[in-house]
Order: sequence, then structure tokens, then C-alpha cells
Amino acid sequence: MSAIILDGKALAQKLQAELKAEVADLRTRTGKTPCFMNITIGQDPAAGSYGKSQKRAAEFIGIDYRFSVLPQHISQKELIDQVHFLNDDVNVHGIMLHKPVPEGIDFQQAVNAITPKKDIEGLNIANLGRLMLGTTSIIPATPAAAMALLLASGVDLAGKHAVVVGRSEIVGKPIMLLLLARNATVTVCHSATSKAGRLADQVRNAEILVVAMGQPGFIKGDWVREGAVVIDVGINSVDGKIVGDVEFDAAARRAAFITPVPGGVGPLTAVMLMKNGIETFKIQLQHP
Ligand SMILES: NC(=O)c1ccc[n+]([C@@H]2O[C@H](COP(=O)([O-])OP(=O)(O)OC[C@H]3O[C@@H](n4cnc5c(N)ncnc54)[C@H](OP(=O)(O)O)[C@@H]3O)[C@@H](O)[C@H]2O)c1
Repeated sequence: MSAIILDGKALAQKLQAELKAEVADLRTRTGKTPCFMNITIGQDPAAGSYGKSQKRAAEFIGIDYRFSVLPQHISQKELIDQVHFLNDDVNVHGIMLHKPVPEGIDFQQAVNAITPKKDIEGLNIANLGRLMLGTTSIIPATPAAAMALLLASGVDLAGKHAVVVGRSEIVGKPIMLLLLARNATVTVCHSATSKAGRLADQVRNAEILVVAMGQPGFIKGDWVREGAVVIDVGINSVDGKIVGDVEFDAAARRAAFITPVPGGVGPLTAVMLMKNGIETFKIQLQHP
């Protein structure tokens, strides 16, 4: 079998065009332009590829996307004061805190200070709780991108055995919830699964395989089940090249569908963040 490539770039372009039309319509109806603020601590935002790709996506869609650059040695209290200031600014509709944050800064506590209606990353504890209950439209961007590509395969997830490798708060766990919400039967693997020598067996059973571990080429092609759908969230730099967590060529010979790296989940993530931001903008129009 030679897998069909799930093209994240093409899907991102299609979604971007739809969002651009939606923002133009919202602007005509309300006279307002969505404005998002990326809080970065002690970094040059222009140097970060994620910040750059977000700004590019925002500008294409017609969103006012800005960086709030704070000093490297800012205290937790000063950071939270800045979050509260942006919460109260009626001209700012979306707030995110850029990761990584310096040592001594509690990322989750700071994100929890963002008012849920401006939390465009969906990482505030209230929005994560709503994600668990299935009552939110703000889905963390990377898991949302992974799911969009999975759904683009057209494969019905109900009753399928889905294996997620990785259990981080921002990727693995939300993907687990999204797969459950689609009625997949979900197994979540992590480093202890590997240490116990059980990862390959779990992967061999996966009809749907989503990998977010940050370990280049760790998932061997011959572990992949014939006909599986493989979503590789991993982004790793090896000898100046970006590669995923899955051995692409060998996996593509067995899978029915597979995402490339680069060109899979990555390009879609920034657009999913903008989609969330437009959602928060609309929430604020209804509940100023
Ligand atoms: N496409 C995008 O836009 C996007 C966005 C975010 C992240 N990413 C990429 O996705 C990958 C994961 O990101 P993350 O933030 O979730 O990373 P993370 O917080 O470091 O989490 C990695 C997860 O993988 C598990 N893991 C690590 N080594 C393992 C092994 N040998 N066997 C089994 N499980 C193992 C860890 O298990 P434990 O919990 O047991 O430690 C952990 O749950 C990275 O490559 C990152 O660059 C991509």
C-alpha cells in the first residue's frame, strides 16, 4: 500500500480563505477588526518561527496580530498584572502566552489568569474543563489541526482503535478527548509504555495513530498497521532538516493515509489558532 498524503498546507490555505471572508463580513457588520496579543517574555518574537507563521496567517486573514514583549526577568505578579490589563482592554480580543517561558514563571497559572473569553489557545483551565465536557468551541490549535487532518481522510472514527503517543497537556491529552468525542476507542501511550517495551505492540494495533512525542523517527514504519491513518504531530530538527516522530517512507508504504512533516499538522496549527481567535471575537460581540 502507498498512503494518501494528508496535505496540511492545502487544507490551511482553504481554511485561511474561509476565515478571511468571515473576518471581512464581521468587519462590515460591526466596524471592528479582531486584535490578538501574543505575550512573549524576553524573546525577539520575530525570531520564533511559530510567532512568525501566526503573524503571517493573521495578516492574510485580516486580523490585527501584535506582540507584547516583556522583559526576561519579569516576576509572576508583573506578568499576571499585564494579563489583567489586556483582559480589560476592549480593543484586544485574543490573548496568548508564548512558550517557553523563563524559569521561575508558572505558565499554567499565568494562562489561567487570561479571561476564558480571550483565551485563543484554549489552555485556560476553564476552557480545558469545557473541552473535557465537550462544551467548548475553543479547541487547542495543534490538537484541532491534527483532528482536521484526520477528518480530511474521511475515515469514520466511531469504534476504531486510536492510539495516541504522548500525553502532554497541549497536544496528547486534548487529542485523546477529541478522539473520544468522535467515539473512537482510545489508548494513550507515554514514556513508561516505551520503558515497559510495549509501545510497538500498541502501535501495531492502531487503526488511527496520532504521534506527539518529540522524538525523531521513533515510530518505526514496520510498527504501523496496514491501512492505518497516521497523524504525525512531531516537529524535530535533525541536521538542519525538519522531521517528524514517525519514519515517514516506511510508514507510508503500510498506512492508508499519512501526514508529512513538514507540510502536515504544522501549517494548519497557526490557522486553527486564528479560527479560535475569531470564535473568541464573536463571543465578545455577544458578551462584551
Ligand atoms: N505541529 C505543531 O504545530 C506542534 C505544536 C506543538 C508541538 N509540536 C511537536 O509535537 C511534539 C510533542 O510536543 P509536546 O509539546 O506534546 O511535547 P512534550 O510536552 O515533551 O510531551 C512529549 C510526550 O511524549 C512522550 N514521550 C517522550 N518520549 C517517549 C518515548 N520514548 N516513548 C513514548 N512516549 C514518549 C512523553 O511521555 P511522558 O509524559 O511519560 O514524559 C510526553 O507525554 C514535539 O515534536 C513538538 O515539536 C508540534
